[in-house]
Amino acid sequence: MNPILITAPKRLTSFLAKEVAALGYPVLAEQVTGVLTEGEITDAMRLNLWIRTGHRVLYLLKSFAAENADDLYHNAVQLPWEEWIDVDGYVSVVSAVENATIRNSQFANVRLKDALCDRLHRLCGRRPDSGPDTNQAVIFLHWQGDACSVYLDTSGQPLIRRGYRRIPWRAPMQESLAAAVVMATGWNGEGNFINPMCGSGTLAIEAALIALGKAPGLLRSNFSFMHLCCTDEEAEAWKIMRAEAKRAARKTFPGKIIATDISPQAIEAAQKNAATAGVDHLIEFQVCDFRQTPVPGDGGVLVLNPEYGERLGEEQELQETYREIGDFFKQRCMGYRGYVFTGNPDLAKRIGLRASRRIPMYNTTIDCRLLEYELYEGSRKKKGIIGETEDETDSNIGTLP
Ligand SMILES: C[S@@+](CC[C@H](N)C(=O)[O-])C[C@H]1O[C@@H](n2cnc3c(N)ncnc32)[C@H](O)[C@@H]1O
Repeated sequence: MNPILITAPKRLTSFLAKEVAALGYPVLAEQVTGVLTEGEITDAMRLNLWIRTGHRVLYLLKSFAAENADDLYHNAVQLPWEEWIDVDGYVSVVSAVENATIRNSQFANVRLKDALCDRLHRLCGRRPDSGPDTNQAVIFLHWQGDACSVYLDTSGQPLIRRGYRRIPWRAPMQESLAAAVVMATGWNGEGNFINPMCGSGTLAIEAALIALGKAPGLLRSNFSFMHLCCTDEEAEAWKIMRAEAKRAARKTFPGKIIATDISPQAIEAAQKNAATAGVDHLIEFQVCDFRQTPVPGDGGVLVLNPEYGERLGEEQELQETYREIGDFFKQRCMGYRGYVFTGNPDLAKRIGLRASRRIPMYNTTIDCRLLEYELYEGSRKKKGIIGETEDETDSNIGTLP
């Protein structure tokens, strides 16, 4: 058993920890940007196949103390690289380095690569090619102070590159964030998932994958672990876990997914992306203003990710849009839980409803909230949610910079 660190964006690690536990792995630590578990290399493969909210699955080879680049070399040259790295293959070294003696992390990468290649050359008479391409074998070095950890990055390209988002559109959400948003709503295929302002369709596509229980790694044909030396049993284990994941995926689910956008190009992009993900037949797409989005009467969740006006002048126009989102919720969405994902607390106040939950997330570096609104008739009196304007100055959303 080796420690396995799965990296994730800030504020997504609680979702990742739930995924790791649901897959039957221990959550040994939940860190700011990752979750620590443990297992064999085949467990790292399985995590690559199933994880939705993480970015990289790092399999620890060794941790050691290194004050400078010579210490790094001397420790790294003793690692059994011949067990992992194909001398006739290609390897890339990437790193996160904060050490007083290292001014350029490239230098640390080169010293680690030299240690690996020198050892293989001594043992085998040949050395692998190396360079910046992270599509093949990848080594990750984490070096802070004098604490060094050397990992096999078994993912290579981050897991958010599911491979389905071929057609770009404005301000798309990362797939890991979209998956976490869907997980936060609790939607699992029962009831409807309505996504006005769907853009390139990331939320709707992730919702469909989650409702089907389809492993996101099934959409990808390349992971870094495929370029490592592995035994016949390990290669066979990968084939078996893929086949099992395919069998486990449902063909359909009882609820409806409806995705709309005012832009015909956005809907075209979303449809093509959904087709690449193999879920286009499960999503009803429509070009329309968000207020015209069909909202079936049998309830579910409704998620909007409106723009939040990062450029001057945009905010004024968006104030009206956010006010209309509040009206749309009140007038058309009774029986639903409504969600708005935004990075602008002032605009959020324009919705004019009291959020029942505010879930902090980041969209890359932007401090955001997923705001939840319970849109039930009964809640008007009981909880005062519908029809009341919220003054959010004392709430956590009011503390955004
Ligand atoms: C921030 S983007 C959504 C990105 C999306 N979550 C994704 O992952 O691609 C906002 C979207 O709202 C759409 N939009 C803006 N105003 C709209 C309106 N009044 N009705 C419907 N869609 C609108 C834009 O066309 C854009 O695609």
